[in-house]
Amino acid sequence: MRILHLTDTHLFSDKSGDVQAKMHHERFINFINHFNKNRKLLNVDSVIVTGDISHDGSAISYDVFFENMDSLSIPYAVLPGNHDDLGNLDTAIKIAKHTVAVEQLSNASWALFGLNSVVPREDYGFINKDTLYKLREDLTDTTCENIAIFLHHHLVPVGTPLVDICKLMNSDDLLTICHDSPVKFIGTGHAHTLFQRKIDNILVSVSPALCSQWENGTSAVSIVNNSGFSIIALDKSIFIETHFI
Ligand SMILES: [Fe+2]
Repeated sequence: MRILHLTDTHLFSDKSGDVQAKMHHERFINFINHFNKNRKLLNVDSVIVTGDISHDGSAISYDVFFENMDSLSIPYAVLPGNHDDLGNLDTAIKIAKHTVAVEQLSNASWALFGLNSVVPREDYGFINKDTLYKLREDLTDTTCENIAIFLHHHLVPVGTPLVDICKLMNSDDLLTICHDSPVKFIGTGHAHTLFQRKIDNILVSVSPALCSQWENGTSAVSIVNNSGFSIIALDKSIFIETHFI
């Protein structure tokens, strides 16, 4: 299966507001146009969006996101990020036409799981005890030989202090549960950079943000003006294509 991994669109309620709001809106519309123009070339079965869809959590920003995503007529799953308003996001997901749960994108060879790593009003991520317990049970019960997990917060430092201070705080707990299980891939966003690391048998991948990237190694707010996404091909092996548009 080929999944387009989209993350961190950071849309605002006022798309023509300040420079950042305007740029994020343009980048998102550019992605929609790029997808439509290159649909055959991209050749994906579905899209997984790993959070920070909105920057300000406004209902208007979700309207813009879901209307445009629905126009692609492809199944897509959405997970929350630290900037998202969980109530407004949930309402928008329910109204959207083509949204599915991450798990529904599974096939006979690959089972997919989505995790919520958001701690309300905090930038860092944490997966609560109940979610970890359920994941442990699911991994024990599954008959699938390959599992991919998606969530917002990155697991291991990417080398940029600005975002590494707010990564997933209990990533060791998650990796311990996944160790010696069929989990072979964990995909995240949040770090606004491209990063991949093999940890034991698991390929940990951070997809670049659609809005812009953080300058590598920065502790201050400093952005690099490019826009990207990944395509993850899950088969006997895992291939990741990075697209900067
Ligand atoms: Fe984030």
